[in-house]
Amino acid sequence: VSTDWGSAVSRSEPHQLPPQPRLPEVAQSLLFWFDTERFMRACERRHGEVFMLRTQPIGKLVVLSNPEHIKQAFLGDRDVFHAGEGAEVLRPVMGDTSILLLDGTEHLEQRKRMLPAFHGDGVGDYGAIVEQATHEQIDRWPLERAFPLADAMRAITLEVIMRAVIGATDPARLAALREALPTVSEVSGPILFMWQYPALGRYGMWRRYREAKERTDELLEAEIAAHLSDPGLADRTDVLSLLINTELAENGTVDQKRMRDQLITLLLAGYETTTTGLAWAFERLLRNPTVLDRLRGSLADGEQDYLDAVVKETLRVRPVIYRVFRKLTEPTQIAGWQLPADIFVTPAIGLTHKNPALWPDPHAFRPERFLQSDSAPYSWIPFGGGPRRCLGAAFATLEMKTVIRTVLSRTELAPRRTRPERTRGRNITLVPHRGATVVMADRRPPVTRGTGRLEACPHLAAAGQPESN
Ligand code: HEM
Repeated sequence: VSTDWGSAVSRSEPHQLPPQPRLPEVAQSLLFWFDTERFMRACERRHGEVFMLRTQPIGKLVVLSNPEHIKQAFLGDRDVFHAGEGAEVLRPVMGDTSILLLDGTEHLEQRKRMLPAFHGDGVGDYGAIVEQATHEQIDRWPLERAFPLADAMRAITLEVIMRAVIGATDPARLAALREALPTVSEVSGPILFMWQYPALGRYGMWRRYREAKERTDELLEAEIAAHLSDPGLADRTDVLSLLINTELAENGTVDQKRMRDQLITLLLAGYETTTTGLAWAFERLLRNPTVLDRLRGSLADGEQDYLDAVVKETLRVRPVIYRVFRKLTEPTQIAGWQLPADIFVTPAIGLTHKNPALWPDPHAFRPERFLQSDSAPYSWIPFGGGPRRCLGAAFATLEMKTVIRTVLSRTELAPRRTRPERTRGRNITLVPHRGATVVMADRRPPVTRGTGRLEACPHLAAAGQPESN
């Protein structure tokens, strides 16, 4: 990306706006969506830590990367900094009542209903499900043949979502969900066109998407109905049961449409993201043998701290979500600029995580940095922050730790190529461009204890502790 664009501060605006590249809007849009990392870094080098972009379909957005400015955006008045409007394009998939699309009081109320199900202390219970799903997948991996670990991770996270979040047990419904969910989670740019031009839904990929979405809605509705008629509902621990129980306690009844909207939201927010976090964890670990050795050693000693640091460092150096959006509902001063209403501010997680003033040698994969001292507030923000912080952060962290530990306990993996994989945009995430391709040189059977039965690792509960921002 050339940085030689000049830095015209637009003078025609009634408000004071940060510097912006002179590139035409269409070029900025393409670079912003398809070459995110290089474009944002080039803009930062050229214009400094606060700059403005014009991109379709969002319009003007002001990019922030200084933790102080990001804190303002995350903790600012929830009626002024609207996150829901930033996710508007997902409305046809997620539904009108999805937590991701709500703002203000409605969002607060929905979040309160969902928080208990994602509380850090409770998610430790899902560790055994994650471990089981990981073993099942490892048994299917080919020996001595290259395969993309991202696909293997996707299969694990899909099983985890189905069993721990949706709580599906009926084999026929599980099989149908296994088929439909991956298609529904592929909310790519071309798919989004279908909401503007519904006639597309009759053809090819759009038709496949529409049918999978309709099928998923039916299956999720059937799952909610099955939960409601289960006499053992009060004792169930899957996320859907906890959500239903909270709502029953609150209202004595369940709004089934709202419940379905939250389920599909959790699926979309949690599936591709955790898959990508895991793919990057292995991509980085396998290219940093010293880190890998230290991790293996610490796990053999039953320690969790280094594993925790590996997950944090992965999400720092390869943030799955590069930026988040807040739409201003009123003129607001932020980062010293007087911004007009209706403009977006964009905390750029990826830029903050590579700021050498916050993270010395920022491109190096060094989990040790998380052992030495606490990071500065709002300098490590892979899960966003404030009242919109990722609901599934503790869940995702537990899942990543459990999968990494289980895979390392049974396999010897090597990267297909030694060169680091580049980042590539995939739906809302930045993924390794070759899918973290690996070769498995050895596979050991799972550790069994006495009874011959697989046992959950005694450290699972510890792995589920919530992490701090
Ligand atoms: C490594 C995995 C994950 C990453 C990196 C991630 C990251 C994020 C980010 C950056 C946000 C936006 C925060 C903001 O706007 O400030 C978010 C929101 C959200 N995430 Fe995650 N996420 C992950 C996994 C999950 C999982 C497993 C679930 C649930 C099963 C989940 C559920 C949600 C929900 C419901 C929201 C919306 C919260 C709200 O608007 O109040 N995420 N996530």
